[in-house]
Amino acid sequence: MKNQTISRWGDWFEERLGWRAVAELIRHKEVPQHRYSLWYYFGGMTLFLFCVQVATGILLLLYYRPSAETAFESVQFIMTEVQFGWLVRSIHSWSANLMIAAAFIHLFSTLFLRAYRKPRELTWVSGTLLLFLALAFGFSGYLLPWNKLAFFATKVGTDIAGVVPLVGPFLLRFLRGGDEVTGATLTRFFGFHVAILPATVTVVLGIHLYLVQKHGMSTPPSVDARSVPTMKFIPDFLLRDLVGWLAAVTVLAALAAIFPWELGEKADPFAPAPAGIRPEWYFVFMFQTLKYIPSKILGMDGEILGILFFGLLALLLVVTPFISSERRPGKLNLLPIVGIIAILYILILSAFAYLT
Ligand code: HEM
Repeated sequence: MKNQTISRWGDWFEERLGWRAVAELIRHKEVPQHRYSLWYYFGGMTLFLFCVQVATGILLLLYYRPSAETAFESVQFIMTEVQFGWLVRSIHSWSANLMIAAAFIHLFSTLFLRAYRKPRELTWVSGTLLLFLALAFGFSGYLLPWNKLAFFATKVGTDIAGVVPLVGPFLLRFLRGGDEVTGATLTRFFGFHVAILPATVTVVLGIHLYLVQKHGMSTPPSVDARSVPTMKFIPDFLLRDLVGWLAAVTVLAALAAIFPWELGEKADPFAPAPAGIRPEWYFVFMFQTLKYIPSKILGMDGEILGILFFGLLALLLVVTPFISSERRPGKLNLLPIVGIIAILYILILSAFAYLT
C-alpha cells in the first residue's frame, strides 16, 4: 500500500518534471575512495555554508534597513532587541568567513588533485567564478552595518578599483554611486548583496553542480582509476557530508556565542580615518602587496602595476585548465609548485599584515 502511494507520487512528478533521470543519476553516483578522499568533502562544505548564509541573510533582512540614517541603528536593534538577533547576525558573519575559507581549500584541493583536467575544465571555470562572487559577497556585505571600520575599508577598497587603467574612474563611480562613499554606496551595495549577487550565484552554482553530476567525481592521476574502490553517494557519502555539516554548525554556534560579531561605532564620513584600516582577511595579502610595491617601477606607477598583476593572476586562475603544461605530454607539470608558492605567499603576506 505504502509502496503503491510512493510509486503514484513518483509517476506524478515524473509526468510533470521528468525527475526520474535526475534521481537515477544521483542514485548511481559513486565517490572514489582513496587516501585523498577527504578533500572531496570541501565542495559540499562550501555549499552547506552558502545555505547557512541564505537562511541567516533572509532572517536579517526582516529587520535590516539599508540607508545611511538607519543601517547602523537597525543592526544595533538586531543585536540588542530582536530575540536571538545577535546569534543570527554572528552566525551570518562567521559563516561568511568560513565559507570563503572552505572555498579556498576546495580550490587548492581540486588544483592539487588535478580535478580541473579534461573533461572538467568548465567545472573549474565555474568554480573560479563562484570564488570571485563569494569575495564580492564579502566586500559588499562588509559595508552594510555602516560602521567606521567598514566605511573606511570600503573607501580604500573602492579607491583601489578607481586606479585601474581606463575603466577605473567608471568603476569607482559605479561602485560608489557617486564620487564619494555615501548613503548611495550603501544602497547600491545592499542591492548587490541581496539581489544581483544571489541571482548570479544561483545560475553559476547551478552550472557548477550540474557539471559535477554530469562528469562524476574525478580520481587523481596518482590513483589507479580502474581498481579504486567506490562509495555510494546516497546514502554513504551524503551521511558523511552530514557529519561534517553538523560539526560546522557546532563550530559556528561556538564562535558566535564566544566571539559575538562586533558592531563598533557608527560611520562618520567627516571623521579622520582610524589607524590600522585593513580589509577582510581574504583581501589582506593583496592589500599588503600594494603597500610594499615601490611608488615607481621603470617609470610606471607601482600601484597600477600591482593591480594589473593581480588582475592577470585572476585571469590565469580562470583559464588554468586550458594553459596547464600537462596538456602537452612530456612537459613537467608546474601547477603543484605554483599552488604551493601561492599558498605560502598568501599566508606570509597576511601574517606580515597582522603582525606589523
Ligand atoms: C564557492 C562556491 C563553491 C561551491 C558551493 C562548490 C561546490 C562543489 C561541490 C558540491 C562539488 C562536488 C564535491 C567536491 O568535489 O567537493 C564540487 C566539485 C568541484 N569543484 Fe566546486 N564549489 C565551489 C567553488 C569552486 C572553486 C573556487 C573551484 C576551483 C576553481 C571549484 C572547482 C571544482 C571542481 C574541479 C570540482 C570537481 C571535483 C572532482 O571531480 O574531483 N569549485 N564543487
